[in-house]
Amino acid sequence: MENILVISGHTDLKDSVANKGILNELKENNENLEIRYLDVLYPDYKIDYLLEQSYLEKADVIILQFPVFWYGMPSLMNKWMEDTFQHGWSHGSTGDKLKGKSLIVSLTTGAPEALYHENAAMGHEIKDYLVPIQTTCHMCGMNYIGYVYTGGVSYQSRQSADAVKEIEEKAKLHAQRLTKMIKDNCE
Ligand SMILES: Cc1cc2nc3c(=O)[nH]c(=O)nc-3n(C[C@H](O)[C@H](O)[C@H](O)COP(=O)(O)O)c2cc1C
Repeated sequence: MENILVISGHTDLKDSVANKGILNELKENNENLEIRYLDVLYPDYKIDYLLEQSYLEKADVIILQFPVFWYGMPSLMNKWMEDTFQHGWSHGSTGDKLKGKSLIVSLTTGAPEALYHENAAMGHEIKDYLVPIQTTCHMCGMNYIGYVYTGGVSYQSRQSADAVKEIEEKAKLHAQRLTKMIKDNCE
């Protein structure tokens, strides 16, 4: 069975509905799945890159789970990647530790999905923002499997208990799609 490693890039999961829901559902429905909660592990942004590298080396499937902050990964997750993916380890002529591993992106946005379109407010599709991650996979010899995306889960849309319930339901469906992507492509 494949070892699945989820990197949670949310900067404060205590204040999360969508990402927290996705992570809890994933944990319940997948064996051999480990979650690295970066907000709990590294509130000071001082990444233990050797430890992170050791987790990545054991993984077959890597999932990057994050809320979109300013059209990219939250700063904590960028820092995790900057510190952990080192020349000579992940890339460069002798860097092959991530080679052959599968990577899936799992992301949420506050703006509704319909706004991520070339003719709508954002002017781009959500996949356009994932090019840096895809390029990183290419550089490190990883297989980019794809992404699972849910929009419309902003803080502003948590105005009532029913609205929160709706986001929790979206998170559940998101986790089910992600589990299916893992099963269909990585086992
Ligand atoms: C600093 C910051 C930047 C954000 N930038 C974006 C953005 O660029 N696009 C977007 O659609 N939502 C943006 N959002 C909204 C978050 O993506 C949204 O709150 C998150 O996906 C909700 O997930 P959660 O319930 O797990 O916190 C931003 C939120 C914060 C706090």
